[in-house]
Amino acid sequence: MYNTQLVTKNMYWVGASDRRISRFENMFPIEKGIAYNSYLILDEKTCLLDTVDKSISEIYIDNILYVLNGRKLDYLVINHMEPDHCANIERICELFPDVTLVGNNKTFTFLEQFYESDLTARYHVVKDKEELSLGERTLTFYLAPMVHWPEVMVTYVNEDKILFSADAFGTFGALDGNLFFDQVDDKEELVSEYRRYYINIVGKHGANVQNLFKKITELPINMICALHGPVFRETEDIEFIMDKYQKWSTYTPEEKGVVIVFASMYGNTELAMDIIASKLSERGVRNIKVFDVSQTDPSYIVAQLHRYSNAVFSAINYNAELYLGMSTLLQEAIMTNYQNRKISWVNNGSWAGKSLQMAQEIMAKGKKIETVGETLVLKSALKKEQLPELDALVEAIVASLENE
Ligand code: FEO
Repeated sequence: MYNTQLVTKNMYWVGASDRRISRFENMFPIEKGIAYNSYLILDEKTCLLDTVDKSISEIYIDNILYVLNGRKLDYLVINHMEPDHCANIERICELFPDVTLVGNNKTFTFLEQFYESDLTARYHVVKDKEELSLGERTLTFYLAPMVHWPEVMVTYVNEDKILFSADAFGTFGALDGNLFFDQVDDKEELVSEYRRYYINIVGKHGANVQNLFKKITELPINMICALHGPVFRETEDIEFIMDKYQKWSTYTPEEKGVVIVFASMYGNTELAMDIIASKLSERGVRNIKVFDVSQTDPSYIVAQLHRYSNAVFSAINYNAELYLGMSTLLQEAIMTNYQNRKISWVNNGSWAGKSLQMAQEIMAKGKKIETVGETLVLKSALKKEQLPELDALVEAIVASLENE
């Protein structure tokens, strides 16, 4: 059985969602699954844009055969060779012996690394900005290295002004029927997942995203079709996501706000962090987010760190070293190129330990990370006589927010 949707005239979505997967790339929790998008253009030549993950191969092939309705497939454009999109290339070649594979040199290097079949006779190697006519429609390919992998390219349909953007502008989450972003009601939750997806999957490569933007900046765009998540087709939605990508890829805070991240074995550090949160609130600060690294997956926390201007981290000792969950969180933040932010520290330990030094060494790898206020040093628990120190730290954070 098939399940397809019309994207625009003679262009169909032939992807599907996987709601049984629990972690994307076996790393990032995805409670709402994920959509693997693929698109099929019917023109004088037929053209499929990317394949899908092996988990949805059966419905995917049914979708393609239904839309083709007896026609053969002429082209398969491979914008991205990560297995969540390339798992069906060999199957497509078996089904359509005449299909031409369109990619760049790096595409085919990866294809040969992943697969056994010799498909070289089918290769059509394209260079940056090269065009391919399908009849009424013409495709232009723009190489987009490291948006997310080195071989990535995006494909632009000149006549319809549609950008097939590979992983860029994608998100976690299965599609709830509504294929288009403007059809989805719960935008706040959706945007949160767009952010978590971008920051964790592509966040490290902001400069490469900027390079792609320079290439496509002059292109009018009527529609963005990503490999995951809904399609953008309304001008205001395209401008909205472009603006988000501009901020995310330049490591510019979206909003003033404070992300408070702690580890706490018996609640003493947690209480100190909660008191900081309360006092910030009393001083008029909004956008305060408090996270326990032992309870929330780092992908959620890292996304919020990129969202806001400030953060407060606790560095607590465990076996005289940095609590492992906090170490992981800080390393993941740096791996996503967390930078251009203001951070403050709370340190806790009952005897000797080097947790603060270890935490600060990790964060020293980030660019333009400014320390705000004096580190609040606790011995096991916050004491009343330390409240002036805590208040001073809060005041320093408030002042830094006012200077943003
Ligand atoms: Fe959706 Fe980089 O793969």
